[in-house]
Amino acid sequence: MSSSKVAIQPKDCVIIVFGATGDLAKRKLLPGLFHLAEVSLMPKRYHIIGCAPEGTGADEESFGGYVHDVLRTFARKEVTDESWSRFSRHLSFVGTRKGDLGNLHTELKRVESSMEKPTRIIYLAVPPAAFLETVSLLGTNGLVNESTRLVIEKPFGSNLSTARRLNGELHRVFKESQIYRIDHFLGKEAVQNILAFRFANGLFEPAWNNRYIDYIQIDVPETLTVEGRGAFYEATGAFRDMIVTHLFQTLGFLAMEPPARLNAHELQGKKIDVYRSVEPIDAEKVVYGQYEGYKDVSGVAADSNTETFVALEAAIENQRWAGVRWFLRTGKAMAESRTSVTIGFKESPLNMFELDPDLKSKLKPNELTFEITDPGRVTLHILVKEPGPTTSLEVAALSFQYDDSTLVAFELEAYERLFHDVMLGDHLLFNTAEAIETLWQLSEPLLASPPEPYAYLKGSWGPEVVESLLAPFSWHLPEKL
Ligand code: BG6
Repeated sequence: MSSSKVAIQPKDCVIIVFGATGDLAKRKLLPGLFHLAEVSLMPKRYHIIGCAPEGTGADEESFGGYVHDVLRTFARKEVTDESWSRFSRHLSFVGTRKGDLGNLHTELKRVESSMEKPTRIIYLAVPPAAFLETVSLLGTNGLVNESTRLVIEKPFGSNLSTARRLNGELHRVFKESQIYRIDHFLGKEAVQNILAFRFANGLFEPAWNNRYIDYIQIDVPETLTVEGRGAFYEATGAFRDMIVTHLFQTLGFLAMEPPARLNAHELQGKKIDVYRSVEPIDAEKVVYGQYEGYKDVSGVAADSNTETFVALEAAIENQRWAGVRWFLRTGKAMAESRTSVTIGFKESPLNMFELDPDLKSKLKPNELTFEITDPGRVTLHILVKEPGPTTSLEVAALSFQYDDSTLVAFELEAYERLFHDVMLGDHLLFNTAEAIETLWQLSEPLLASPPEPYAYLKGSWGPEVVESLLAPFSWHLPEKL
């Protein structure tokens, strides 16, 4: 993470987006590139080649119009005639067919000829089933050279053996240093702020361990259903979609030992050390849920057992964390969309003051909460003396909200930040093959015998049985303030 506020301009590059007419490109990648161009974070010379199978939404003539519509719907900045004319001259399209990359080679030669040693960035925003074929075609068509970088989206396999196979195939065409495995949670300002909060302030790190902390919650409830993504979700489920990826990446930042430097080698090394200390996930400490109505979604089997909700307890067996309880929860069709991380500090050993036990159980003093959902907020709940003639306590909050900060103007959306890092060749916020395989390895016992999902109502907080997983603690959300 650079601490500089000066814009860093990457070297000339060509970006090839496979899946250019898909959902991710439409919602995040194309609007993200447009935003980077608008805030002067794109290279002086760059070009974006959209690739998609012929007949899937655009062709050479219509791609410009397609992108214009996409930006008008999803861009964070207004698309004016001037900004569109600046951006649109950097776009072209190549149609592909099964086993055939069309005229990509010719198009690359054309656009690269006016650049100085351009970086070639290939972004695979395609369904996982298409990863291997696309990578092997890139290899056989001679499109990979020393300056090529590959960005690949999750899911990275569906278990340890498929992840190993995927990594093996990637390594036949790319060196590990050319591969950027993206997990967009690590591009979120509020997730990166966990590192800043822990390692830049002298106050909290000394208390960041099992002497002072009882439990940590990583909570990602979403109101979103899987409508429109039934077939993908049915084969994936909440554990593979969210837990083994976003929630465990967040756990890595929360639990790692302080890196000596803020560089990719150090940070990735510290994360791997944590993952190696996580106990294999015990199916007895996992609750699966499925929201009522899920089986009616198009693409979902009538007798589906796929989980749309997971809550689990994880344990990290190392000097710092032994004994601390880690709770992870995520689910679709829940009551609120509100990603948060809560650190539950131990209570003071001597309780001299009066505090209404009811109030205490509701307001949970001693909790530090990072809200990851934009705009991002950090809140510390503390006990203060209630004004007046008694010695009673009440709960108060110390809070920082990104929105209140003048620096918010520099904010980049997660994909923008990560795209910019790829252009700079910075692996800091990306994942290694080893980290991903380690996470799959510790998921093996659960994947071998997953629990049956409990039914839960749409708009609820998941199956009620989950509460017993946490006892004697309880979830920070829903907030009862
Ligand atoms: C994606 C998952 O990776 O992350 C989705 O596939 C999920 O199921 C999404 O909704 C959540 O990301 P965000 O940034 O909206 O919190």
